[in-house]
Amino acid sequence: MATGILIYSYSGNTLAVAERIKAAIEVTTGEQAKIERIMAENAGPNSGNPIILKDIPRIDQYDRLIIGAPINAFSLCRAMTMYLSGHAEFSGKHVGCFITQHFKHSFLGGSNGLKQMVGLCEKAGGEVEQTAIIHWSSPKREAEIDDAAALMLKV
Ligand SMILES: Cc1cc2nc3c(=O)[nH]c(=O)nc-3n(C[C@H](O)[C@H](O)[C@H](O)COP(=O)(O)O)c2cc1C
Repeated sequence: MATGILIYSYSGNTLAVAERIKAAIEVTTGEQAKIERIMAENAGPNSGNPIILKDIPRIDQYDRLIIGAPINAFSLCRAMTMYLSGHAEFSGKHVGCFITQHFKHSFLGGSNGLKQMVGLCEKAGGEVEQTAIIHWSSPKREAEIDDAAALMLKV
């Protein structure tokens, strides 16, 4: 099954998780997984300007999509929200979703952002089969990343 790991990452945490998921998929299945990064202008934490998506990866070649993004201000980050709202076509695809957030508790943004992400993926026609939240400041972070990678293998 062709797997794309489609992420937005500003400071690298979401990318680091994507790399661990990629490694888990490749080691376990022997198949390649490709990380596809959404890039955006004005997506920085201090920018109040409208976001412009610069790189919008093509995803039609993937049967399985793992979508990952950070939380900003208790919500799904603006770049991923914009991508999923306007550019996603996930019909017939198996989808897994993961979120990275700073705080240890999902109620400080993760649950809300994940709900937004799942809703937008389903609106785009995808079937979301697994979800995960990684709490960056948690002492359990490494275990959470391992668990997320194991879950995404089931997508
Ligand atoms: C502007 C801004 C707002 C943020 N808001 C939240 C938040 O509401 N809750 C939270 O847990 N983390 C918050 N974070 C932390 C990020 O979600 C977290 O560091 C994430 O892992 C960053 O992912 P990235 O390195 O892939 O960009 C915020 C970070 C920034 C820069």
